[in-house]
Parts: sequence; C-alpha cells; structure tokens
Amino acid sequence: MTILITGANRGIGAEMMLQYQAKNQRVIGTTRGPESRDFLSFDVTCESSAKDLGQSLETQGIDLLVCNAGVYLDKGRYSGDDLPADMWAQTFAANVTGVYKTIEATLPALRRAQSPKIAIIGSQMGTRDKAQGGSYIYRASKAAVINLTFNLAHDLRSEGIAVGVYHPGWVQTDMGGDEGHVTPTESATQLIGHFARLSMTRSGEFLAFDGTPHAL
Ligand SMILES: NC(=O)c1ccc[n+]([C@@H]2O[C@H](COP(=O)([O-])OP(=O)(O)OC[C@H]3O[C@@H](n4cnc5c(N)ncnc54)[C@H](OP(=O)(O)O)[C@@H]3O)[C@@H](O)[C@H]2O)c1
Repeated sequence: MTILITGANRGIGAEMMLQYQAKNQRVIGTTRGPESRDFLSFDVTCESSAKDLGQSLETQGIDLLVCNAGVYLDKGRYSGDDLPADMWAQTFAANVTGVYKTIEATLPALRRAQSPKIAIIGSQMGTRDKAQGGSYIYRASKAAVINLTFNLAHDLRSEGIAVGVYHPGWVQTDMGGDEGHVTPTESATQLIGHFARLSMTRSGEFLAFDGTPHAL
C-alpha cells in the first residue's frame, strides 16, 4: 500500500507519516522544503508544483491520498478585525483550491491502485454545529472543503474511488496550540483508523475525532 500525505513535514501530517512507516507502509510525504528520500517537494498553492507532483507519480499507484496541508491565518481574529482580501485568498488557495489541485494531480496515480481512497482533513470549525463566531476565513475554507468532499465522493463513485473528510480533534500542533485537547500521536492514530475503514459504502463520510458522523 502506498500513501501520499501532503504537509507531512510537521504537525499531524508528520505524525501520520511516522505511524504508517512504523506499520511498514510505503509513505510519500510532501513538504515545501527540499526533496529527500521520503519527501517530494510540493506547494499546494502552486499550479506548476502540482503538475510536477503529477509527473513524479507518473509510473506509480497511490492507494491513499491524505490531503492534510492547511493554514489558519486568521486565528484569534473576530468581527471588526482587519481581514485583508489577501488573507482570504491565501487561505482558500491552500485549504480549498490546494486540496482540489492535489487531487487533480494525483488522480492518475489513484486510478492505478486497486481500491483507491482520498482522505481530506477538514475541521468541525467549518460546520454550523460549531459556528461559535470568529475565524471567519478559516471556518469558511473548511466549510468549502467539506462540501468539496461530498461532491467529489459523488463524482468519483463511478470510478470506485472513496472520499471522506475528517475532523482531527483540537490537536497540539503549531496550528492548534498548546491548549489542544489531543496530542498529534492520538490524533494520527484515530485518523489512520478512520482511513482504514473508509470504503465505497462509506464514501462521502464526514467523521468527528471519535469516528462518529459529524453534524453539519
Ligand atoms: N491542529 C488542530 O487543532 C486542527 C484542528 C482541525 C483541523 N486541522 C487541520 O489539520 C491539518 C494539519 O494541521 P496541523 O495542526 O498539523 O498544522 P501545522 O502544524 O501548522 O502543519 C501544517 C502543515 O501544512 C503545510 N502547509 C501549509 N501550507 C502549505 C502549502 N501551501 N503547501 C504545502 N504544504 C503546506 C505546512 O508546511 P510548512 O511547514 O511548509 O508550513 C505543514 O506541513 C490542517 O488541514 C488543519 O486545518 C487542525
């Protein structure tokens, strides 16, 4: 089984990569840094970088794509705070367009696998259920990627590609901060379990950290 994880150089992505490697799975991580033995260089906001990724995978099959890379640029900002258009653009470029472009670049490699799956790291912050105000840009981007998941699941069903979106918990990473409720290790363990259970019958699922279907 070959797994591709975007943004695997730190945070939840790095922990997922370590845990898969410990299970002797082949993992290709992506980083915005230089390439190395286990890492391809990939900026999800850069179209030519996505094309390069697609070319690097030209002869390979990818069984599981994990769209994990993301940014939270308006953390701690509320109504009335300055939310520059550029911050909206950068966030959507990474968290929404970046996910789509990653999938687009990886689809040929996914089609070469037996039972391909796509796992998208969303967030409960994109739901109405957890609409507690503030962080409008991040929340809107995660709402968009949850919607993207549902529509990709619909369209990729005929090809046998399962797609799901997952809330990883409030995780102690650079993004989540020290107050997070779960460690990256706990989060990655849960996510890996969810991805293992993802199948065509479950395609289109949106799961909470504990694996229950998340309210929208
Ligand atoms: N932490 C939480 O509590 C929490 C909760 C809900 C959802 N999430 C989601 O979980 C995912 C991982 O979050 P995390 O907490 O692990 O965050 P993190 O520690 O900040 O790591 C983010 C990762 O994404 C990469 N990245 C950002 N922009 C990128 C770009 N343009 N191209 C390629 N890679 C890019 C970063 O690479 P660089 O090192 O190059 O910046 C880094 O590897 C994100 O999608 C996040 O929204 C996190």
